[in-house]
Amino acid sequence: MPLTDLTHDDAVLRIGDLRTLRHDFTRFMMRHRFGMEEIVTKLTILRDEFALMHETNPIEHIASRLKSPDSLAEKMQRKGTQPTFASIRETITDIAGVRVTCSFVSDVHRIFDLLTGQSDLQVIDVRDYIAHPKDNGYRSLHTLLEVPVHLSDGAVPVSVEVQFRTIAMDFWASLEHKIHYKYRGLVPDDLQERLREAADSAHALDTRMESLHDEVKHLGEDGVETLTEQIRGDLVTGDELVPTEALINQLRRLAAEEE
Ligand code: GTP
Ligand code: MG
Repeated sequence: MPLTDLTHDDAVLRIGDLRTLRHDFTRFMMRHRFGMEEIVTKLTILRDEFALMHETNPIEHIASRLKSPDSLAEKMQRKGTQPTFASIRETITDIAGVRVTCSFVSDVHRIFDLLTGQSDLQVIDVRDYIAHPKDNGYRSLHTLLEVPVHLSDGAVPVSVEVQFRTIAMDFWASLEHKIHYKYRGLVPDDLQERLREAADSAHALDTRMESLHDEVKHLGEDGVETLTEQIRGDLVTGDELVPTEALINQLRRLAAEEE
């Protein structure tokens, strides 16, 4: 029955229900956002530590997104999810999604191990589409994690889907996604075949880049000097952590005075 056909009292009741529902939905989504932020923080810590303390930048990019209500509704319909929060939580595990892009396949595995090995995280599922690519050529390493989110009334476990991939895999996946979207899932056979070939080329590139990287990784170990401008800019603590030329000169002078 449309809301306008209700008697006044019923309408108040229905609006009250809607308010409760909206409140519960906001709380549900908020928890997922917090879980996502916990994972992003963990990855940012790893990235910044590597950038400052080691010579490498194994993480190129970290992206995160919360599923929009529209896309949540569409997926609920597709999966036949009951309209309860328990059922949504059980069947739709990618409400919170994080994507980590690395330069090399070895970095993908390294960051995956460092994150999933953290003692406060629970690994619920791993799907290794790098070892076992999908038929269309898709490669990435997926995991479903449960992270505790500490709220005022205690800790709640929140599911976060994390995808790890190389730049080449990411390049391919975003093009494939666009093509898939354009053809509404009905991609012509020849285009599918060319996409598969492109996935193989991306994989071959990853393999070559990895072996080149292996050959030269002992060269040019000059620490923070190798930080890219973007990472320097992104470092939350800013330049205080990256010694300036002036600070280094001052330290040298102090050291000389000590002698
Ligand atoms: P969903 O119903 O989409 O969650 O699929 P699923 O539960 O079988 O999970 P799966 O691990 O296959 O995929 C989860 C996510 O990985 C997707 O939402 C995409 O972000 C990504 N993904 C998986 N397969 C493909 C693919 O073939 N192409 C692209 N571009 N992305 C993919
Ligand atoms: Mg999924």
